[in-house]
Amino acid sequence: MTTSIRFLLGEEPMEISSADPTMTVLQWLRGPGGRCGTKEGCAEGDCGACTVVLGEPGQEDGTVAYRAVNACIQFVPTLDGKQLLTVEDLRAPSGALHPAQQAMVDKHGSQCGFCTPGFVMSLFEMYEKADAAPENPAIEDQLTGNLCRCTGYRPIMDAARAMYALPRETRFAAAQGRVASALKELKRTTGLDYTAGGRQFVAPVTLEEMDGALAAHPGATLLGGGTDVGLWVTKQHRDLKTLVYTGACAPLHAITTHSDGSLSIGGGASLARAAEVLGAYHPSLAILMRRFASSQIRNAGTLGGNVANGSPIGDSMPALLALGATVTLRSARGSRTLPLAAFYHDYMKNDRAPDEYVAAIDVPPLGGRVFATYKLSKRFDQDISAVCAAFALTLEEGVVKEARLAFGGMAGIPKRAAGAEAALKGRVFDADALKAALAALAEDFSPLSDMRASAAYRALAAANLLRRFQLEASGSVPAAELEVYDYA
Ligand SMILES: Cc1cc2nc3c(=O)[nH]c(=O)nc-3n(C[C@H](O)[C@H](O)[C@H](O)COP(=O)(O)OP(=O)(O)OC[C@H]3O[C@@H](n4cnc5c(N)ncnc54)[C@H](O)[C@@H]3O)c2cc1C
Ligand code: FES
Ligand code: FES
Repeated sequence: MTTSIRFLLGEEPMEISSADPTMTVLQWLRGPGGRCGTKEGCAEGDCGACTVVLGEPGQEDGTVAYRAVNACIQFVPTLDGKQLLTVEDLRAPSGALHPAQQAMVDKHGSQCGFCTPGFVMSLFEMYEKADAAPENPAIEDQLTGNLCRCTGYRPIMDAARAMYALPRETRFAAAQGRVASALKELKRTTGLDYTAGGRQFVAPVTLEEMDGALAAHPGATLLGGGTDVGLWVTKQHRDLKTLVYTGACAPLHAITTHSDGSLSIGGGASLARAAEVLGAYHPSLAILMRRFASSQIRNAGTLGGNVANGSPIGDSMPALLALGATVTLRSARGSRTLPLAAFYHDYMKNDRAPDEYVAAIDVPPLGGRVFATYKLSKRFDQDISAVCAAFALTLEEGVVKEARLAFGGMAGIPKRAAGAEAALKGRVFDADALKAALAALAEDFSPLSDMRASAAYRALAAANLLRRFQLEASGSVPAAELEVYDYA
């Protein structure tokens, strides 16, 4: 049993033994950490004012991989074994600003300044990953998780390009070997088990420890990236007594693309990493994952967390349901694999027993299936879907052998449209078949009205998405991969 959280703040070793396990990194920074450069805007992962960068051992020995995350929804024990970089770390000992900061000054990217440290940290992450300015869409993607109410964004976009024209800052690259060795020293062979203020945080490092932790604490809250759970604390003030964290369990992070094109995605793999293989699997998944939250949320959040949370408006589930994905649940009692459709029972209720966890999500090969997924939300970026849809058709000589049509936002769970699927089976997917499917679809769901959309809007939008799919599948309109959004 270990009793303290160990990490690097910049390059300074830190040890914390009394912080509440659900204290956020932002609360710690602005309180005991004494670093107030990182700001609080929303405390729910939306505005990016709290953006910090985490360093972890990279793929190659002696390297450090950086990812920007929202400090406001990360709990302090998740820092264990990592490097935490904040805006205070960026200025050189000489006092010179980092190019990400200097370019913001030069291009007038800051007015009131509240959002600026967050933008700077997002820019810093991009700077350390690329030697030259990426294309506009990539810069926009990098900054979708940072909101500014003053500048109108153009000066910030200018700064994102201009920082690469300034003399290259090599300080962080040069420190990687040193930091990597220090992180190696912090690496645990058995998991962290940390208790403070009557709350416990367990971070297993092996699957067997994971099994044991949930067998010992079956009522514990599983914590992946915390992009849902963090808000339970910061917004709903829930009292989480015991947390079991998947983030330190490397085997749960594995992602494999098999030779037949099928995918196995570990229950603890981040959305950012899952997006890479899903995007390669099908172009419409690349578009969907680009529009899934923000870069910071995708860096922290996991696909397993999205699936396990099972929100009716979650974005990955319609595609996974349409593709016939399975979910593997594991516990000390063994493993079982079930179709994702069988995992969801009712609104936020699923088949997981209290001692089980999502160990993997498996996606069968696409094969010759015709597939597309679409997200409809009020904003292009960083917005929750009003309706999300995914369609997969298996055709034999032009006739639908199997149709899998799945929707988010249309019922209390992500769900397939059984009537519409039946209406398509055995038919050529033409305008007549579409008409029959649309009539059945109207009976498949009774969507709700809420702040995102009315029931009537949802029903019409779902029908129009199926209509769009038919037009694309028949070649009447360009396919979804042509839909690339560039603000510039
Ligand atoms: C600003 C913001 C924007 C967002 N935008 C989107 C969006 O566009 N689309 C979308 O779908 N979602 C969105 N979300 C929701 C969230 O990011 C996703 O649901 C994410 O995938 C959750 O993953 P996580 O690892 O952070 O889960 P956590 O918050 O750690 O956990 C979520 C749930 O899953 C459980 N859980 C986690 N891991 C496991 C596991 N391995 N086995 C069993 N149970 C587990 C937890 O106990 C909890 O019930 C957004 C959230 C925020 C804050
Ligand atoms: S304070 Fe807004 S994202 Fe963290
Ligand atoms: S400069 Fe004021 S919020 Fe961005």
